Amino acid sequence: MSALNVRDKDTIDFLLTRRSTVAKMMDGPGPSDADLQKILETGMRVPDHGRLTPWRFIVIRGDAREKIGDVICASYKKNTPDAIEEQIEIEQERLTRAPAVVAVISRVHKGHKIPEWEQVLSAGAACQTMLIAAQSMGYAAQWLTEWYAYNADVKAAIGAEPGDEIAGFVYFGNEMMDGKERARPEYQDIVSEWSAAG
Ligand SMILES: Cc1cc2nc3c(=O)[nH]c(=O)nc-3n(C[C@H](O)[C@H](O)[C@H](O)COP(=O)(O)O)c2cc1C
Repeated sequence: MSALNVRDKDTIDFLLTRRSTVAKMMDGPGPSDADLQKILETGMRVPDHGRLTPWRFIVIRGDAREKIGDVICASYKKNTPDAIEEQIEIEQERLTRAPAVVAVISRVHKGHKIPEWEQVLSAGAACQTMLIAAQSMGYAAQWLTEWYAYNADVKAAIGAEPGDEIAGFVYFGNEMMDGKERARPEYQDIVSEWSAAG
């Protein structure tokens, strides 16, 4: 039987109950090298109109998190001259909240017949797919942008090219303690069925 024909109750139950873990509630060890590679490979299988691969994934682990933290911190201080010490520390430690962070770069092919909007959506799909892949493996994960995803110095430091955007920093780790479910929208507020009868 093809994988596509398997009616996998575990998957649907998982998708109906999965949730993210706030990065500050993450701990090590996080995904092993093999698991992280699997997670990244799921991100490479997302729908991609025109097969443009309009995304790149930059893994930030170990000391690299502190090095990028230095850049985040310097940019923060540059833009906030009256910054208080407590906030400076938070900025320095952004990436060290989790053992592994993946920066998902949205790299659109400008002027291509495939609309840029669709290419950006594909990068979002990559973030979400890696998020659910990690969560399905029992890891804690969260998709964040925060302010530094939009900061030119940070983008340059992680190796983004001119024109690249950061679709998200996806944080991966282990949950320190059971997190809370958040409020979800009501089905009837979101879903409607179009009817020719009006
Ligand atoms: C593109 C994008 C950027 C986000 N950036 C932030 C952020 O900067 N800060 C934040 O608290 N949540 C941010 N979130 C929200 C969290 O990822 C997420 O909604 C929350 O953790 C609950 O996730 P869950 O629905 O998977 O449980 C962002 C979500 C998306 C889709």
